Amino acid sequence: MADRPIQFYFRGALQQVQGVAPTRTVLQYLREDLRQTGTKEGCAEGDCGACTVVIGELTGADGQEELQLRAVNACIQFLPALDGKALFTVEDLAPAADRLHPVQQALVDRHGSQCGFCTPGFAMSLFALYENQPTCPEREEIDHTLSGNLCRCTGYRPIVDATRDAYALPRQPLNRQPVIAALKALAKLPPLDYEGADRRSHSPRNLVELAELRERLPEARLVAGGTDVGLWVTKQGRDLGEIIQLGAVAELKTLSLGAEHLEIGAGVTLTDAFAALTAFEPQWAELARRFASTPVKNAGTLGGNVANGSPIGDSMPALIALGARIVLQKGEATREMALEDFYLDYQKTALRPGEFVRALRLDAPSAPLQRLFRSYKVAKRTDQDISAVAAGLAVHLDDEGIIRRARIAFGGMAATPKRADACEAALLGRPWDLNSVRLGMAALREDFTPMSDVRASSAYRLNVAANLLQRFWLETRLDGSPAQPPVRLDQLAPIGQEARR
Ligand SMILES: Cc1cc2nc3c(=O)[nH]c(=O)nc-3n(C[C@H](O)[C@H](O)[C@H](O)COP(=O)(O)OP(=O)(O)OC[C@H]3O[C@@H](n4cnc5c(N)ncnc54)[C@H](O)[C@@H]3O)c2cc1C
Ligand code: FES
Ligand code: FES
Repeated sequence: MADRPIQFYFRGALQQVQGVAPTRTVLQYLREDLRQTGTKEGCAEGDCGACTVVIGELTGADGQEELQLRAVNACIQFLPALDGKALFTVEDLAPAADRLHPVQQALVDRHGSQCGFCTPGFAMSLFALYENQPTCPEREEIDHTLSGNLCRCTGYRPIVDATRDAYALPRQPLNRQPVIAALKALAKLPPLDYEGADRRSHSPRNLVELAELRERLPEARLVAGGTDVGLWVTKQGRDLGEIIQLGAVAELKTLSLGAEHLEIGAGVTLTDAFAALTAFEPQWAELARRFASTPVKNAGTLGGNVANGSPIGDSMPALIALGARIVLQKGEATREMALEDFYLDYQKTALRPGEFVRALRLDAPSAPLQRLFRSYKVAKRTDQDISAVAAGLAVHLDDEGIIRRARIAFGGMAATPKRADACEAALLGRPWDLNSVRLGMAALREDFTPMSDVRASSAYRLNVAANLLQRFWLETRLDGSPAQPPVRLDQLAPIGQEARR
């Protein structure tokens, strides 16, 4: 590893950064150091999207490299995360002083901006969509793309209309070749070992380097996507000490999806991990839709979500319900355990000094049992909100419809994500019917004594958890009555018009 500046592609040239703390955010660097103030700061915590930029990264094998462009929140990305990548900001969009990019032109034409503070962020999210999706997407995808961009004055209809209009204008894609060439040159640099403002950050490129560093520096803070850790700095002013960045470790970013099993490297982004999980278990789509925003999922990792160990992290209940196992590595040795066993107490996990999360493993349900699965998130808003209760619910039925295996897990109900042992015991050996579900609902009161906080009272959490079990049954019942899928507010239509389904 080499002591060298952080280097990335920016405005058609290689940009070098040195002398600043490794926890300086991309947004601070853009606005305060480079005085590139098109990118705005609203919340400094990944919530509003005013700071949205697009990061370019090489994917694909040698000789077949492709440029992946994804929107992220600059306010919670630390500068070393840019090393070896390309950065695009709103100032990069217009091809000439008198000509706008189609997404900008459409925003102007459709009056998609009033005070304009949010507009650069919207333009960047739409730029990423425009680059990744050559034809105009469905409304659902547009909504998902904009789930991390808040506008408090314009309203979203003109912005959605502008998105569609951008596709009707003459196409103006990014010239990717110079970017790819620059990124290939950057990939030849030695791994980054960076020091600035008396703080050190290491960016290993492979598992061997990572394992060695982690054993040598067990106190160093691991940073993957930084979507949790970033806020410790921007909101809590914490000093992270020495840092090990995981973003460049190739093996942590591997995904292996087969008919029978799925393995997700700890450094796979939530966007990619959720796509694989949805291919593996289609019901995961609901959680993917409700989890954070597109820019947060583009940066955050599945490993970071499970390692953080938050009792209100959303992926853990669903992963536990699916029987996920976590793979831990220290030096060359690995060990594996059921994900639920990884959580020991409030923010206390089974990770030992010098150890890190390497991957998550899931197996397909074993025949002849039939697995029913659902995941629910209850929060005050649809997008970008913290769960009051998150549920992962799975029952495995035999040919007669008897529950032979149950994995019922909740977040927001205890100090850790936790299985509902009493509820599972109440269900086992019984038919998947309303009587059994009622027994399970009652047993949940033995499993949990949730706390009351600003998000929900203890009583509400208990009631909601029990009701989610009933909802699970209503959606998957096998007694011949029609299953009752949930009705969404956005699917309701004014009287006399047909509902959107
Ligand atoms: C606006 C916003 C919305 C969010 N919405 C949601 C949401 O809806 N649901 C939800 O659950 N979360 C949400 N989060 C939290 C966060 O995005 C997730 O927890 C994310 O998965 C964290 O991943 P990361 O890679 O960014 O982790 P980081 O911030 O890099 O790290 C998180 C923790 O995990 C540790 N860590 C990371 N990787 C490893 C590893 N391989 N081995 C050992 N330790 C490791 C780090 O040291 C740190 O303690 C949100 C965050 C923001 C900012
Ligand atoms: S400033 Fe609000 S998301 Fe970054
Ligand atoms: S135009 Fe004012 S916040 Fe969106």
